[in-house]
Amino acid sequence: MNSSDAKLSLVADGLYRLSANVRDILFEGIWPIPNGVAMNSYVVKGRKVAIVDGVCGWDGVPDTLFAQLGRMGIALEDIDYVVVNHVEPDHSGWLESFCRVRGDGFSVVASEKAAALLEAFYGIDPATVRVVRDGDSLDLGGRVLRFVEIPNVHWPETIATFDEATGTLLSCDAFGSFGAIGDAPYDDLLGPEEIDFFESEALRYYANIVATFSSAAAKAIAKIDSLLGDRLKIVAPGHGIVWRARPRKIIDDYARYASWQKGPAERCVTVLWGSMYGNTEAALPAALEALRGSGVETRVHRVPETHIGDILASAWKSTGIVLAMPTYEYKMFPPMAAVLDELGRKRVQNRLAFRFGSFGWSGGAQAELEEIVARHKMGWSFLEGVEFKGRPRAEHLAAIGERSAELGRRVLEAVNGR
Ligand code: FEO
Repeated sequence: MNSSDAKLSLVADGLYRLSANVRDILFEGIWPIPNGVAMNSYVVKGRKVAIVDGVCGWDGVPDTLFAQLGRMGIALEDIDYVVVNHVEPDHSGWLESFCRVRGDGFSVVASEKAAALLEAFYGIDPATVRVVRDGDSLDLGGRVLRFVEIPNVHWPETIATFDEATGTLLSCDAFGSFGAIGDAPYDDLLGPEEIDFFESEALRYYANIVATFSSAAAKAIAKIDSLLGDRLKIVAPGHGIVWRARPRKIIDDYARYASWQKGPAERCVTVLWGSMYGNTEAALPAALEALRGSGVETRVHRVPETHIGDILASAWKSTGIVLAMPTYEYKMFPPMAAVLDELGRKRVQNRLAFRFGSFGWSGGAQAELEEIVARHKMGWSFLEGVEFKGRPRAEHLAAIGERSAELGRRVLEAVNGR
């Protein structure tokens, strides 16, 4: 390893980062990652050596990390402990190849629930796992790792690992982001535009991966603050950059994202629209002009052209939602129904909302909309909708403009009154 690589792998004294970028996959088999994602793993060296947060078993990734270890002068036989913060295979998928290459002579360290999952996923005998609970420690010889249970961020077995010597929290998915990493894996090496990029990627990661479990995320943050306080100096997640200069930034960002689940969120309105023959689309400018005139930021996504992963990030940040879609075969325009169902599953709750759209021989979209919102207990507060047969006429456009302006006003009131 040259001196530049060595410097970039060194997070803090005796703590090293291994990382591989992954692109051209759907994360969790669902979510596009147009900017890739970094898979991070960490090596902590006392007299004994632990590797914390594994990586995925995707083609080439374990080999990439094994090679990085080799370049750092760490032989696999040097590793005494593998700490599994989280069993989802993007972090644990290399265990089989690691076990095969490493052989005996090391211990897996994980929570009790993780031990059961490791057996189910990889056939690892739970009796061989060193089970740790809240506050337990692992003495590496002159260096101590301490464990914090953060269940349901976003799986039930999840823990975070705190390196007491450097004040580094190895947090796995918590405080993670999408976005591949170049030559600068630390916030102290990045400019404002690059930090903005990772903030945006963190929001999309949060909305896609963590959002459903926002209550658990908020509890985890409160627990970490209470247990670690000022001792926390660095946040080193399993995805994304390491926060050395401003660890508080990513923690505060995550706390804000978690608070948005139940609204209000930001001064944003997400406009989701779909149209079969242009009739619903013809009413869209009236809504957009009124919303923008009210002073809110608008985020406009056509359905089904926009992937739900992007829509989720937008809706998560928005206090208001406009749904513009026609009736289709007595029900809601099907791709919009799918989007709304996913927003419900992710618990995008308590939004201010407004719906308009066209119908032909019969309505029906409104009834399905109400059914989905009720089924997921979304708690959205709707202004009176506007439906029109065929093309929108002047009175429809006027009503859509008035209601959109009203939605914008209410969004600002909700955000300002928070
Ligand atoms: Fe990055 Fe839940 O795995």
